[in-house]
Amino acid sequence: MNKFKNTFYSHDVVKSQFPIFDKNDIIYLDSAASSQKPRSVLSSINEVYSNNYANIHRGVYKLSQTATDMYEDAREIVRKFVNAESVKEIIFVRGATEAINLVASTVAEINISEGDEIILSRLEHHSNIVPWQIMAKKNKAIIKVAESDENGDVSFESIFKMVTPKTKFISVTHISNAIGSILPVKDICKEAKSRGILTLIDGCQAAPLLEVDVQDIGCDFYVFSGHKTYGPTGIGVLYGREDVLNEAPPYQGGGDMIDKVTFKETTYAGLPSKFEAGTPNIVGAIGLGSALTWMQNIGINNINEHSRKVVNEGLNILESINGIKIIGKPINRGGVISFIYKDIHSHDLGTLLNSYNIAVRTGHHCAQPTMERYKVSSTVRASVGYYNNKEDFEALAEGILKVSKVFENV
Ligand code: ALA
Repeated sequence: MNKFKNTFYSHDVVKSQFPIFDKNDIIYLDSAASSQKPRSVLSSINEVYSNNYANIHRGVYKLSQTATDMYEDAREIVRKFVNAESVKEIIFVRGATEAINLVASTVAEINISEGDEIILSRLEHHSNIVPWQIMAKKNKAIIKVAESDENGDVSFESIFKMVTPKTKFISVTHISNAIGSILPVKDICKEAKSRGILTLIDGCQAAPLLEVDVQDIGCDFYVFSGHKTYGPTGIGVLYGREDVLNEAPPYQGGGDMIDKVTFKETTYAGLPSKFEAGTPNIVGAIGLGSALTWMQNIGINNINEHSRKVVNEGLNILESINGIKIIGKPINRGGVISFIYKDIHSHDLGTLLNSYNIAVRTGHHCAQPTMERYKVSSTVRASVGYYNNKEDFEALAEGILKVSKVFENV
């Protein structure tokens, strides 16, 4: 039993669960890019490789069955985490990028034809733009963009004013990775469903932060990456409604996704195997299961509450610095604050902050259309994980002021 179940615990205790902070004296404010890993996740990876490792779904021997059970147990953990109806709706993929590519090239392939429309929002990550562009080019479909407002919000109205009888798909982010806006995904999905439009929600920044309930949201697809939810790299999740996935053709061909193969004809396995060709990321999935269990033991609501508190404190601290301009002031914000400082290029600022052991992301954050909308080429982005606190933002502010002095002296 985790003695910390659903209770707040002190920052030092939280941080002590992350071995990376024992070895690195670092203010880590880049969890939107990738979160650090708690000891329980690292131990589970070590444990599988050391004691329980074999290929899955193939061996009749005990070790293979143990590994298979652990992999399938991880699927059940994910199912519970997103509240899917069935484990058939949980597909392990390489990450959110692969999940969106899978949907765009299989589900969309049979649901979108010439002249049909796909709606994206202005705030999408490139991984929720480019796969649709590739598909649209192939299928002669049209991509339409719902604009964000001055503050960085994408409203329900801005989505639905783009909808026409030709709209077949709406694919939007839950939380913008670049400026932090939370989109009204539940309202969007409800209205889309009533009009027979399929929906995909990119949950990369939301899954580490919010309680995700795909049945409550009412989406057809929900995707997220393991490495941002305190889990390993190279593993991610596609939730897809069973009836829609059943209709779709496979994404890749190979072992494990078949029912019967002859040179004349091949029939496919049922869900979820149909979409998991080849030996999957067995240990990644098990590690992800441990990460989601770690999050659930803390309590997603506690993670959310803590992150919101730290982000609000961070915003207050940053806003009090002369010369800082926060990019995006959405009504509801996730764990991300993007800003520019005076006329110092974000890469210069980030590089100098690194010399004070402060890790932030700089650049366009794989969201160039968002940058274009707010008339910046890049920003500095500070983003939080459960291990961050107010002091991290105080250190960031101190670092920014030191950088300012460096520039005054050149
Ligand atoms: N998508 C990740 C980010 O926002 C890498 O930094």
